[in-house]
Amino acid sequence: MALVLKSGFTFDYDNLFGEGKVTKADLDSYAADLKKAHEAMKVMRESGFIKAHLSKDGSPEKVYFSKLPYVTEENSKLHLNSPASIRKLHEFTRHLRNNIDVVVSLGIGGSFLGNKVLFDIFCGEFWNAKTKEQRNGLPKVYFSGQNIDSRRTADIINHLKAMSFVAKTHEKRPLKVCLICISKSGGTLDTMSNFMVIYDALQKAQNIEVEVVAVTDPNEEKKTLLKQLAIDKGWPQFAVPDGVGGRFSVFCEVGLITAAVIGMNIEKFLEGARDMDEACKNENLFENPAMLNAALKFAAYQKHGRNIEVMMPYGDYLKSLSEWYIQLLAESLGKQFDKDGKEVCYGRTPLVAVGTTDMHSQTQQHQEGALDKVVQFIKVAKWEDDLVIPNAFPEVKKLADISGVTMSEALEVARQSNADALSSNKRFNACFTLPELNEYHLGELLYLLAMSVAYEGELANVDAFNQPGVEAYKRIMGPKLQELKSSKK
Ligand code: PA5
Repeated sequence: MALVLKSGFTFDYDNLFGEGKVTKADLDSYAADLKKAHEAMKVMRESGFIKAHLSKDGSPEKVYFSKLPYVTEENSKLHLNSPASIRKLHEFTRHLRNNIDVVVSLGIGGSFLGNKVLFDIFCGEFWNAKTKEQRNGLPKVYFSGQNIDSRRTADIINHLKAMSFVAKTHEKRPLKVCLICISKSGGTLDTMSNFMVIYDALQKAQNIEVEVVAVTDPNEEKKTLLKQLAIDKGWPQFAVPDGVGGRFSVFCEVGLITAAVIGMNIEKFLEGARDMDEACKNENLFENPAMLNAALKFAAYQKHGRNIEVMMPYGDYLKSLSEWYIQLLAESLGKQFDKDGKEVCYGRTPLVAVGTTDMHSQTQQHQEGALDKVVQFIKVAKWEDDLVIPNAFPEVKKLADISGVTMSEALEVARQSNADALSSNKRFNACFTLPELNEYHLGELLYLLAMSVAYEGELANVDAFNQPGVEAYKRIMGPKLQELKSSKK
């Protein structure tokens, strides 16, 4: 059984639905809830209203992620995507091209994970080792701020200084670095500590010119620290709009700024999301990918104890997609209280995996461990640059036997075998297939996953858009840091 969209994007749920798995009766028992969830998504799309959703400071807050795929004039009032904002992103690409040698993107959580997905998928591991011509004039890209790790931050600084030495020696010019500081709240310790360390070091360095771009909450009345700094220093600004939480921000300027840095096709990315949004408006459960995905996973958890979701894309550069999804699922659905204030301690636990790598580590557990998982595969049907495994050693039968097939065919045989083995032992699994790994299909997939957690929030009656749990440690950490600072005086 599979839901196939016009684009070829496929959700194959054969190994998750049917006898011994989630049943039609299971889904039927949620008919009324699904109808309500569908209605709630309609209202959210139209007005941004989500029942019982409150912001961090306890006031009602709109939810606008479902507006992000649509580029309209009207959106500019809300700092969502508009023709002008997209033009500004293209101008930024033009500015970077041949003007900036290196971008350091600083951010954490929602201000990092989606950006890393875009970079890994469209640039790959060796982007920074390519020549400027091979990068089409675009800058090298490094990420920082996603940890408070002095060793790595020092490595970045030293690496930039070494590059500046090469620029000076060979081209008699300074190295041009652009720091893109991304923080919705504008004061996150991890991001801002790295930003200050790197900014300070580069200011003091010989032969490095630094530009800064701030991506933060655009609110003029209550300016974030980062926004105030940007105003004071004259740094260009991009927006993290109100009503768009970090984990839903890959389609706003948070993610799109990285898309601009690496020269991605932004329009195609948004078009994929838009087409997926249309599909997710369908009232028929079996034709609505987000509603179906949410309903199956919800039922697998509630009726069959499958409370862990292993996100397992096949392909190295898709691992960060799995990491992005971990935040989306964990922060959206891991909630102690439901919308009526009742203690429910809801939440499926996400796990990062990548095929084939984790078939050689985690799969033993998936295959024989507790019956508590759904393994969600992601497959790319057609890979670019597919290499044929050659018959390099015809004298070795075992190696000769695997020759003649392409690496992506072998990858898919491995995935399919894993799926078959899991299914043969009561292990629930499903697969999303992207016809190709391009902007359009990635847009479809990321949007589908975001919309799925929104649906599941409604089914579970929890607020998928807040994250009160992350405030607990922050309340402890703030005073601790102050105490540490005072003890140093
Ligand atoms: O999803 C979230 O809200 C978080 O993961 C944030 O994105 C993360 O804490 C970073 O916050 P900020 O963008 O305010 O620096």
